[in-house]
Amino acid sequence: MEIIRSIREYRGHIGSIRSNRPGVSIGFVPTMGYLHEGHLSLIDRARRENDLVVVSLFVNPKQFAQNEDFDSYPRDENKDIELCRMRQVDILFIPGEPEMYEPSHLTVVHVKSITEIMCGGFRPGHFDGVTTVVGKLFHIVQPNRAYFGQKDGQQTCVIQRMTRDLNFDIEIIVCPTVREPNGLAMSSRNAYLSPEGREKAAAIYRSLQEADRSFRKGESNVDRLIRIVHRELSRVPGIKIQYIECRNTISLKEISVIRHPALLAVAVFLESVRLIDNVILTPKESESS
Ligand code: PAF
Repeated sequence: MEIIRSIREYRGHIGSIRSNRPGVSIGFVPTMGYLHEGHLSLIDRARRENDLVVVSLFVNPKQFAQNEDFDSYPRDENKDIELCRMRQVDILFIPGEPEMYEPSHLTVVHVKSITEIMCGGFRPGHFDGVTTVVGKLFHIVQPNRAYFGQKDGQQTCVIQRMTRDLNFDIEIIVCPTVREPNGLAMSSRNAYLSPEGREKAAAIYRSLQEADRSFRKGESNVDRLIRIVHRELSRVPGIKIQYIECRNTISLKEISVIRHPALLAVAVFLESVRLIDNVILTPKESESS
């Protein structure tokens, strides 16, 4: 595994690989490190589907607001390197902040409207940080495919939109959420939770499953499904709901009745940790179409 920290070195390296192996396919997994089984499932899928696997580790300051956890975001570079080696990653790209953002950096990639709702409504500027860094990484890494987790449902929509709008010739592959045995979606931020917090946080997925069960039994009214999630979450002391929303999976437009695949998503605070999760509710008719 090559560990590369500079853009110039990466370009030289990938250029010589491409000239020696024309047509080589590159699968890319962008991460902010502190890798867990969710990231590893993306790496494994990229490994199966591509000749080369590139992983990036970069805690992107531009996607954290002033009051957020950039400084305390969990980091363990040596462990991440070891995990990537074990999963047969070919290139681990670890740029420092000055490598990614020159002091004179002025450009922002902004996807309109779908970044201003849900998580974006509570984290202004967050998705600009995400699209700016992912856009830069796409240009640097030049992958054929890029892998993201369904846990960050809105992020995947925004990145898909950016990829189409800016004509990146990259296939975006969204992989299922990997969960702890109790259902809690894996996230680097779970490291902030106490053992009791982790147990309580299982209610997030439980509440979504409860709504999913009701949906499968025929409930397609969005208000009623949201009420189910709300009721389940409200039973758990310490959980503070930030939002529960159900929107079209692609346009992220609000809906009142589910007729097409819908993203039922929640964000909560527990022990001051912000946790998100979602399920996709697919009506039977659109499953077969
Ligand atoms: O999902 C993440 O870890 C980050 O938002 C990403 C895509 C690596 C961009 O910094």
